[in-house]
Amino acid sequence: MSPHSERQIPLLVAGFCATLLATVAAMAAEPTSRPASAPSLVPAVDQQGPTIKDTYRNHCLIGMAGDLPGNYSALEKALVKENFNIVTPENCMKPALVHPGEDTWRFERPDALVKWCADNTVAVHGHTLVWHAQTNAWFFRDGDKAKVTQRLNDHISTLVGRYKGKIRSWDVVNEAISDRGDGQTAQTENLRNSSWLQTMGSEFLTLAFKFAHKADPDAKLYYNDYGIEAGPKHASSMVLLKRLIKDGAPIHGVGIQGHWSTNGVPYAALDKAIADYASLGLKVSVTELDVTIRGSSGGQFGPGPGFGGRRFGGGTPASPEDLTAQADAYARLFAIFIKRKDVVERVTFWGLSDRRTWRFGQHPLILDSNNQRKPAYVAIVDALLHPNPDLAAPR
Ligand code: G3I
Repeated sequence: MSPHSERQIPLLVAGFCATLLATVAAMAAEPTSRPASAPSLVPAVDQQGPTIKDTYRNHCLIGMAGDLPGNYSALEKALVKENFNIVTPENCMKPALVHPGEDTWRFERPDALVKWCADNTVAVHGHTLVWHAQTNAWFFRDGDKAKVTQRLNDHISTLVGRYKGKIRSWDVVNEAISDRGDGQTAQTENLRNSSWLQTMGSEFLTLAFKFAHKADPDAKLYYNDYGIEAGPKHASSMVLLKRLIKDGAPIHGVGIQGHWSTNGVPYAALDKAIADYASLGLKVSVTELDVTIRGSSGGQFGPGPGFGGRRFGGGTPASPEDLTAQADAYARLFAIFIKRKDVVERVTFWGLSDRRTWRFGQHPLILDSNNQRKPAYVAIVDALLHPNPDLAAPR
């Protein structure tokens, strides 16, 4: 006798179909996030265990990006304090926002961020002084090298000087290396053809570091970029960094941004890249970490693949398989950071939660869009406290 009588089978099928239809309807009606009361489709995750900040306190700083305090809720601000010990302003210190005109500064948001962090014993990492994007045209007007150099100096000395002693470290130059693969990349710096390069030549990097150091000699100064952990862009980064060091740029470390996808993390290359940078006497930070469960990786600002997230099914819930694979990816990454603890001094997530992320819809972070810990959160804690040999760092 089967466990169900023939009369029960149509009822069971009907019940199953109703549940399936309700689930599909709930998924379709969910453009951004799941209400807290809806049935959970994700594995249960311990919300009370050790925090990442406390777990890694003897290894590295653990950060997040956000324009705090802004419109963050009381709960979100509490989560920042609970889980992170350093904040990167996601946007408000970028040149176009803080310095929109030659004689116009907008310090309200940066001042508020620095104050909030000081009041809550959270450090600040400044982002970013020199970038090809989010930088207004007035910097380059007339194209005269001396004039542009003076504007660069004014920008850096004013901004870094204002927060002297209050901002621990800065991304001095962001994303100066080109993505173009032209056969020359492995042997050359392969600099992006930005307005900075066009007006000042390659010296703009060295000068930017010198101006920043002069404005705050105690601040740790970083070169920051995406995709520099692997391939020809890594080789170019080594050429560039050697030149900066040779020319006396006061550079302290390299920021590997870390915009990856679950199936696209270059673990072995990353492990080697950290060692390569250490061989130059530099520290490393992972500065903009997010690992999507769908969509492409990258980091480039612009309407390219991945930007905005919605085209990759924003609102489609993560499946348990997705979340487990993402947790494994984060565990493997942190196994590398643990192995390289003498070099890796900070790991910063680019956002707070799957709601507060530039990759909305791709579920890239370790708190979900309801601010709950995801499997990836626990996997990162376990990577140190209960390491899984299957997720170990490359030898
Ligand atoms: O604040 C305005 C708002 O007033 C306006 O209504 C709205 C309309 O689009 O735009 C808002 O500004 C947006 C800003 O984020 C704040 O949300 C900009 O349009 C948008 O372009 C900007 O995107 C940021 C992007 O950098 C460009 O600056 C992302 O939030 C930020 O996550 C992203 O971060 C970069 C890093 O700085 C460098 N590495 C790559 C990383 C990801 O692209």
